[in-house]
Amino acid sequence: MPRRIEEADKALFDSIADSYVAKDLTPYCRIARSLRLTRSLRHLARPIGRLLEVGCGAGFSAEYLAGDYGRYVGVDYSEKLIAYARARHASSAAEFVCRNIKDLDDTDTFDVVLLIGVLHHIQDVPAALEQMKQRLRPGGVIVANEPQRGNPLISVLRRIRKRTDANYSDDQVAFSAAEIERIFADCGFDTRIFPQGLLTTPLAETRFLPSIVGFPLSLICRWLDPALETVLSVTGLRRLAWNVVILARVRDDG
Ligand SMILES: C[S@@+](CC[C@H](N)C(=O)[O-])C[C@H]1O[C@@H](n2cnc3c(N)ncnc32)[C@H](O)[C@@H]1O
Repeated sequence: MPRRIEEADKALFDSIADSYVAKDLTPYCRIARSLRLTRSLRHLARPIGRLLEVGCGAGFSAEYLAGDYGRYVGVDYSEKLIAYARARHASSAAEFVCRNIKDLDDTDTFDVVLLIGVLHHIQDVPAALEQMKQRLRPGGVIVANEPQRGNPLISVLRRIRKRTDANYSDDQVAFSAAEIERIFADCGFDTRIFPQGLLTTPLAETRFLPSIVGFPLSLICRWLDPALETVLSVTGLRRLAWNVVILARVRDDG
């Protein structure tokens, strides 16, 4: 059964590859999407070292990071997205592998394993985390940006999007922050969790605004969101954000 869901998810991403790529080619979406990446990685020293991105899609993280890493390897099971990533980044040193993360059995190790919006697509998260743990160098971290439930308004907006956006996969279910923490803890990780994205998240995912509106709006929201995230953090209201960032390190006994 899980494999069937995975096959359907992979087929979905192959079928929507062009419109998925279009988000990262739309200037106002790019602003919001690159902010999501930099906010997710903001607690890491730079340059990042060896970075493995799981569910890298079309590989735009390599572009947004502009070489601020020692090595970048992107893995995704969508053949179309990986083909696009390879073509677009042909002149860079970024490497792309078309594989299910659960079948990634090479021996390379990394300082950071990054997942943006991927964990909730994976059918057996503990098995995948175990696989990622094997890819971490001593002292390495997993950084995962995940949609979370907890804000009733955001839940309603997600339900509307599920009904109206044919590109939104049916099987995706946002975890609560507490569930995410427990899954990582059960797999032997210590975690820190931060809220991410209030105003910019919808701008990262939708392309219907004319750029004369979307572009300045995205610039303003990019400026406001980091401050709003801090407010949510210090007031303990992280569940009101669209997403959470999980920063996970292997426990000494993990
Ligand atoms: C929501 S998209 C996010 C893509 C990219 N991280 C971004 O932010 O644009 C989820 C991606 O994860 C990939 N994916 C999901 N499960 C996977 C798995 N088990 N192994 C490899 N890739 C997977 C999908 O093909 C898809 O490209």
